Amino acid sequence: MTFRTIIEPFRIKTVEPIRQTSRAERASALAEARYNVFLLQAEDVLIDLLTDSGTGAMSVYQWSGMMKGDESYAGGRSYAAFERTVRDITGFAHVVPTHQGRAAEHILFSTVVRRGDVVPNNTHFDTTRANVQDRGGVALDLPIAEGHQPQSAHPFKGNMDVAALERTLADNRGRVPLVMLTITNNSEGGQPVSLANVRAVRQVCERFGVPLFIDACRFAENAWFIKTREEGYADHTPLAIARELFALADGCTMSAKKDGMSNIGGFLAMNDGELARQCRTRLVLTEGFPTYGGLAGYDLEAIAVGLREALDEDYLRYRIRSIEYLGEKLLAAGIPIITPTGGHALYLDAKRWLPHIPQSEFPAWALSCVLYVEGGIRAAEIGSVMFGRQPDGTERPADLELVRLAFPRRVYTQSHVDYVAEVLLYVNSLVSRIRGVRIVEAPEVLRHFTATFAPAHEALIAS
Ligand code: F0G
Repeated sequence: MTFRTIIEPFRIKTVEPIRQTSRAERASALAEARYNVFLLQAEDVLIDLLTDSGTGAMSVYQWSGMMKGDESYAGGRSYAAFERTVRDITGFAHVVPTHQGRAAEHILFSTVVRRGDVVPNNTHFDTTRANVQDRGGVALDLPIAEGHQPQSAHPFKGNMDVAALERTLADNRGRVPLVMLTITNNSEGGQPVSLANVRAVRQVCERFGVPLFIDACRFAENAWFIKTREEGYADHTPLAIARELFALADGCTMSAKKDGMSNIGGFLAMNDGELARQCRTRLVLTEGFPTYGGLAGYDLEAIAVGLREALDEDYLRYRIRSIEYLGEKLLAAGIPIITPTGGHALYLDAKRWLPHIPQSEFPAWALSCVLYVEGGIRAAEIGSVMFGRQPDGTERPADLELVRLAFPRRVYTQSHVDYVAEVLLYVNSLVSRIRGVRIVEAPEVLRHFTATFAPAHEALIAS
C-alpha cells in the first residue's frame, strides 16, 4: 500500500518556542514599526513568512559538519569540501565563496558591467537590479507575457522571452556584458524556468557571443518543477537536472541562504579563468581570502551538506506540496493568488483582492500590515513600494501588487500552514474595509527595507 499523505520528511530534534500576542499588542507593535513589517521585532511575529532566505532549519548532518569546520585562513579543508560540492553540482571550474548572494552579484557586476551597459534577465531580483544600476547599467526584465498574468496556467511562467532577448542583443551589440536567468523567478511569483527555455536562451547568447549566468538561489526547487512538469524529465534526479541546467551556462551567482539550506553564505562560480582571477582580486578587497570569502569554515561545511540535502526528492516533494496545499485552500475560498503556486512562496494578488485601493496607496503593502495585525503573520510586499521608484526618482506603479508568503525551509509544519489559511480566510471577510497607506519617509534605493508609512486614511481597517 502506498499512502497519499505527504509528510514532513524529518522529525524535530530542537524546538524554538514562538510567542502568541494579542491583536492589540500587534496593532501597537506595527504602529511603532511605522507600518513597515521589516521594522518589527521578530519576537512579536508568530509565523514569519517574510523570507525563505537564511531562515531554514539545519539538519543534524549540517550541524555535525559544522563541528568539523576548518578555520584556517588559507587552504582550509572546509573550503575544499565546499568547492568539491559546488563543482560536482554545477560543473563550473572556479568557485568563489561570498558571504551571501548579493556579494557575489556585486563582485561579478562591478567586474563586468560598465556605465550604459544592459543586463537582461528573465526578471531581476531587487539586489541584482540594484547592483546593475549601481554600476550605471540598465537592468532589463524580459519575462514571457504569461509571467505577468497571475491566472495563466503556463507551467514555466518564469521563462525568458527569447525573441525579446534576441532583439535586445541585436540592438545593443557590445553593450551586454552578460545575460542572466533567475531560477526560480522570484519576482514573478517563484515560477520555474524550463530546460527548453534555458537551452533557447543559451543558443541566442552563443550566437551573439555573450556569456550566460544563472542566478541560482533556488536551483533545486527549479529542478523539481522540471522533473514534475517538463516532458522527458520524470525519471531524472533533481541532481541530474541541475547539472544539465548549469552545463548550459557560463557561471552562476548563488545565495546559499536559499537552496544552500544555510543561514548565511553564497558563491560565484564560472568557467572563465581570467574572469575568476579578476573577481578574486575584488573578493580580497571586500570579502576575504579566496578560500573563505567572508564566511567561517563551519559555514562552508554547512553549505556543502545543505546543497545536497536541497536536492533530496522527499524534501522537495514536501516543500513544493506544502505551498500548493495552502494555495488550494485559498483558491477554494476565492482568494486571488498567483497560480500555479511557486517554489518557495505563495503570492497573494492584492490588485485583484483589494481592487478598491489605488496603486498610489500601495494595496499589497497595506495587506502585509493587515496580515500581521490580524494573525501575527509577517509577509513581504512585492509591488509598488519595492519596484515603484525609478532610477530617475520618478514613481511608476509596478505591474503586479503581490504579497509574498515565503516559507523557511523545514521550519513550519502542516498545522502552521492550516493556521495561515485560517487567518487569510478571516482577512477575506474584512477585505473591503482595508484601506491604503502612504510613505512618510524613504531612502533612494531598496526602500522597502527601511521606509516608514502611515495609513492614508483615518485607519488601516475602516470600521
Ligand atoms: N537573487 C534572488 C533571486 C534572490 O531571491 C535573492 C535574495 C538574492 C539574489 C540575493 O541573495 O539575500 O543572499 O544577498 N532573496 C531574498 C528574498 C532576500 O527574500 O527573496 P542574498
